[in-house]
Amino acid sequence: MELFDVYSLFDVTPVRAKGTRIWDDKGVEYLDLYGGHAVISVGHCHPKYVAAVSDQLGKIGFYSNSIHNPLQEELARKIGELSGYPEYSLFLCNSGAEANENALKLASFHTGERRVIAFKGAFHGRTSGAVAVTDNPKIRAPFNSWHEVTFVPMNDIASVREELSKGDIAGVIIEGIQGVGGIIIPDDDFMRELRSATKEAGVPLILDEVQSGCGRTGKYFAHQWAGIRPDLITMAKGMAGGFPIGAVLISPEFEPVKGMLGTTFGGNHLAMAAAIAVADIIKDENLVQNAYEVGEYLKSRLLSLASTCPSSAKGALPPPGVDCNSDDDRSTIEIKEVRGRGLMIGVEFSGPIAELRRKLLFDKHIFTGVSGKNMIRLLAPLTLTKDDVDIFIKALEEVL
Ligand SMILES: Cc1ncc(COP(=O)(O)O)c(C=O)c1O
Repeated sequence: MELFDVYSLFDVTPVRAKGTRIWDDKGVEYLDLYGGHAVISVGHCHPKYVAAVSDQLGKIGFYSNSIHNPLQEELARKIGELSGYPEYSLFLCNSGAEANENALKLASFHTGERRVIAFKGAFHGRTSGAVAVTDNPKIRAPFNSWHEVTFVPMNDIASVREELSKGDIAGVIIEGIQGVGGIIIPDDDFMRELRSATKEAGVPLILDEVQSGCGRTGKYFAHQWAGIRPDLITMAKGMAGGFPIGAVLISPEFEPVKGMLGTTFGGNHLAMAAAIAVADIIKDENLVQNAYEVGEYLKSRLLSLASTCPSSAKGALPPPGVDCNSDDDRSTIEIKEVRGRGLMIGVEFSGPIAELRRKLLFDKHIFTGVSGKNMIRLLAPLTLTKDDVDIFIKALEEVL
């Protein structure tokens, strides 16, 4: 049997990893600025993580959700404390899409309505409801197309209010920062208006923090930059060091009814051991603050790299001694804009970055992510250091 061929692969085979480094089957060392798509929050193979998962495996790996599992309560307590949502309750599942699917269901159960407001450029996953609220018709099958979804432009509160006024909305779903959409940060003022408008209309606000959560942006959740409190918050990627997991944080206004949600694997003992270890490491090593500080440093280094030539400087002058008319091949592609918060950063270039990314990977041995054709997306482990940043900036400068 062969694999169903849906992924474009780089010709690299990682076999070992530690912290921010990965080694391939030929012994080549790579710097990981992609974190396996924002998943590796506490670094690869953190010793406390390895010990916790190995230890749990020797005790009990799985039992169904028909018995007491105190590890689930421990994780709920720890996430409540870390995130500042101790009064919310936690529903555990297995992926980001599944978390969004359950949040959408809860909103719909709560309001008795079916239509959802989502945003242009949104990505919420590939299960039926999640892909219906994703703004990409190419990945939506006819089977998924019957959901009632209205996409409105980001930061356009008038459009949101107009849709809400029709009185048939089950919920509004928005990413803390759009990742796949190209590191689009909703305006803080817009987020506050969105919170007020949904509250006035009695419609649940769902914050998809699947990619932007777990401390990645320098706050535990990206929406906390705007100081709002949504009704439902979904999370997944950075929660358990690569062990499949997803979760919904649910405000006390939602009444649980036995059997209304459920899953076979969600909340299993191994996943809980992994997620508790990650939560402990994030707290003990102050990784949310590290994400903020190292992220700010990375952005400032990228911006000064951008300002070495006027066409990419967004108005800044080149530093003394830099000859921007020189005939090197720097002019082929330049940094146009750097945006993001913490360690969720997009570097937008003046042209396609496929070759640049290949050179970073194969010549400089650095993993990066991508958004669209012109953006490199950096989603490094939250343990990234300023020395790692310096290595990347030097490599990028050389490749450019
Ligand atoms: C914002 C957001 N929501 C949901 C998902 C879907 O998560 P999963 O692939 O775990 O289903 C993703 C995945 O990239 C995401 O970035």
